[in-house]
Amino acid sequence: DGVDQTVSTGALASWEAVDAHVASAFRRNRDHAEGSVADYIPILAAADPELFGVCAVDVGGGVHTAGDTEHEFSIQSISKAFVYALVCDRFGHEVVRERVGVNNTGLAFNSVVAIELNEGHPMNPMVNAGAIATTALMPGSTADAQWVAVQDGLSRFAGRPLELNQLVYQSEAATNQRNRAIAGLLESYGRVELDPLEVVDVYTKQCALNVSAHDLAVMGATLADGGMNPVTGEQVVSPEVCRDTLAVMAANGLYERSGEWLFEIGLPGKSGVSGGIVTIAPGKAGIGVFSPRLDSAGNSVRGQRATAYLSRALGLNIF
Ligand code: DON
Repeated sequence: DGVDQTVSTGALASWEAVDAHVASAFRRNRDHAEGSVADYIPILAAADPELFGVCAVDVGGGVHTAGDTEHEFSIQSISKAFVYALVCDRFGHEVVRERVGVNNTGLAFNSVVAIELNEGHPMNPMVNAGAIATTALMPGSTADAQWVAVQDGLSRFAGRPLELNQLVYQSEAATNQRNRAIAGLLESYGRVELDPLEVVDVYTKQCALNVSAHDLAVMGATLADGGMNPVTGEQVVSPEVCRDTLAVMAANGLYERSGEWLFEIGLPGKSGVSGGIVTIAPGKAGIGVFSPRLDSAGNSVRGQRATAYLSRALGLNIF
């Protein structure tokens, strides 16, 4: 996009500068029409492909927006990062590393082969296998109690009560045979101890929580701010948990494209098939983008471009 990064460290530019760069990230990419809307979950195919929103929330709580930043959509895989943080907060570094893993599969997010190639290990919490194994570790003695803990935890990251999108949940629950198979395979390897179908149901609900680009930016800003939500002032998770979560997002957040993402943007991020991406500039800001047209790995095309622009223009690349 012809923009060079200015600096790699130091404070965030002034609020006015951030507002202007968020507006530019939107304007420069608004007419970019590459990619196509996800259709393997039937209801997602109905999304308006023109929707586009860019939001940054800085660790001082300042909100910078352009476009459709209040439009709500199902969070999908972006939930994986935040559920992982909640599970890390409960079990700590060593247990989660052993049970779920941290390494990239180099394969698609819903790969079954990846599980087989690794003796049943789910590999990392950002692919479906690892996310299902992670959701199984949420507190609660029933699936309903675990779902309440997921919804409550993600709402604390967002700083407002997040609601289930019933249409997306029902559409996905009717077509998630592949995730049920993944959970059954994990059970066969002793990697899921609960009823695999109940775990998949909680996972499917977590993916169907509604958020906006604005919510994603607040959730990202909470991870940027050592676990303290800069809007509500609540300490949601510890700084150690943020460090572990950001490392896993950097390695795996954009699936098999995670290397390219780090190379171009240089920040931990997490995408979802409905078209959202959350990105974290540690100590500075969270960025939330939404645009439903995806590339072949399932990552929002305009979302990646807008984030790349902001990373360069604001000097956010951590390398
Ligand atoms: O489990 C699934 O396939 C979806 N609920 C989430 C996948 C997803 O968002 C992958 N992202 N790019």
